[in-house]
This record gives sequence, structure tokens and C-alpha cells, in this order.
Amino acid sequence: MKGIILAGGSGTRLYPLTVATNKHLLSVYDKPVIYYAVAKLVDAGIDQIMIVTNPSHVEDFVRLLGSGKDFISKKTGSQIQIVYTIQNEPHGIAHALYVGSGYIGKDSCIVYLGDNIFEDDITPHIRKFKRGAQVFLKKTRNPERFGVAELGKGGTVLSIEEKPQKPKSQYAVTGLYLYDNTVIEKLKNQTRSARGEYEITGINNRYIEEGALKSVILEKDWFDIGTFDSLLDASLHMRKKKNGRGTAQKLL
Ligand code: TTP
Repeated sequence: MKGIILAGGSGTRLYPLTVATNKHLLSVYDKPVIYYAVAKLVDAGIDQIMIVTNPSHVEDFVRLLGSGKDFISKKTGSQIQIVYTIQNEPHGIAHALYVGSGYIGKDSCIVYLGDNIFEDDITPHIRKFKRGAQVFLKKTRNPERFGVAELGKGGTVLSIEEKPQKPKSQYAVTGLYLYDNTVIEKLKNQTRSARGEYEITGINNRYIEEGALKSVILEKDWFDIGTFDSLLDASLHMRKKKNGRGTAQKLL
């Protein structure tokens, strides 16, 4: 299975932090955001990863991660392989995936929105995955802020509604997706949404039409570092995890 990390976008909700740099290069406590994505995939046994990013920051990613020198494959014990591709304009998440889709070849893929951080171990889900698609859901108290999944028998997804006023469940769709090889065809036949973007929900809906979108519910913490508060929350969480201190400390 190939890993595709989407790390383009505009990051406007984090302005001015992201005026001169890319959201995925900001820090979450002691590491750049993108490290968490790469490490999560490598821990789950993925050793071929493509990073899709914007033209003005691709060199920064290459300087930071190179060909994957800091990451060792669980399978081979050798360095993993990281390659890069450019999304010229931020036309949406499914557009970024389309741009990177040549990398999938005859394989399946795991798509990771680079501004997400997950604490769950995703290894068993990757091992079990065979066909169709799978989304990773998180129970939340404020589902109306997210894409919300309506679930049927055995975790099959019946619908996904973007930021609904009356959510059909408490399950938010997070930024992690497993797709079989048919995603390549689905990516070729997209149309823009009302806001002018190519939406990942459009791709997921195609799998829903086929009755082929399954779900997994995440149990542990999940962060989407796209806002100031969630970026700070993620940093404090990582500090606590590392040395037991979660809240701001006095310097002296
Ligand atoms: P978003 O947070 O939805 O969009 P954004 O990064 O442009 O931020 P903002 O809304 O604050 O302007 O993006 C989710 C993830 O998808 C993030 O990791 C960046 C990635 N992405 C792309 O790679 N290409 C794109 O065209 C878009 C819109 C997002």
C-alpha cells in the first residue's frame, strides 16, 4: 500500500503564521507537523510515501525530510522512500490527491491529510483492508463543525454531510482514508463543489453509492492543527506525553 500525505493548501485560518511558510512545517511541541504524519504511516508499516505540496514550499520539505533519511521501514529495516509532487494551485483535497494519484500505480493507498495528528495505532486497519474504501471517525461533542457520517450495519457509511446543522450522528470524518485502486478512476471524473473545490467527500460519496465505504472509530486523541487553538492543544498534548507537563510553565 502506498502512502500519500497531502500538505498543500493555503492555511488561511492560521494567518499570519502561514503567510511565509507552510502549515505542515510549523511546530507541534518539538517536531514539525509533517513529522507526525510520516511517523504514523511508517509505524503502520508504510514505506513508500508521496508528499503533495505547493510549489513555494516543496524545497523546504525536501530540506527537512529528504528521501526519508530519518525514517526506517518496519518491513525492510532500511530507510523508507519519500517522493514529492507539486499541486500548482490549492483547488481542494481531492485535487491534491488527483495530482499525486500517478504514484498509486496498481496498488491501494492510504491518504493522510498532513495537518491531522492521530494517537491510535492504525496498523491493524491497514493490514485488514482489501477493497472499497474506509474512513476513520471520531466521536465528538460538536459534530456540526465537521463532515459527519451516518452509519448503517457493520460500520458501513450511508452518508456524509459537510458541517450539517442537524448532524445525523456524533461521528466526525477525520483526515485519514483508505482507498482501493478504483480511486484513480474516481479522481478522474470529478466536478467542483459549490465553493469551487474538488472535495474528498465527492470521492467518498462515489464509494457510498457502491455500498463500499466502511468506517473505523478512533478511540484515542485526534488533532486537526488548522486553527490556533488546536495547534496549541496539540503542542501541549505532546509536551505532556513527553515529559508529563501539559499546561504553560513559568520559566523561572
Ligand atoms: P484545509 O485545512 O481544509 O485547507 P487549508 O490547508 O487550505 O487551510 P485553510 O482552510 O485554513 O485555508 O486542508 C486540509 C488538509 O488538506 C491540509 O493538510 C492541507 C491539504 N490540502 C491540500 O493538500 N491541497 C488543497 O488544495 C487543500 C484545500 C488542502
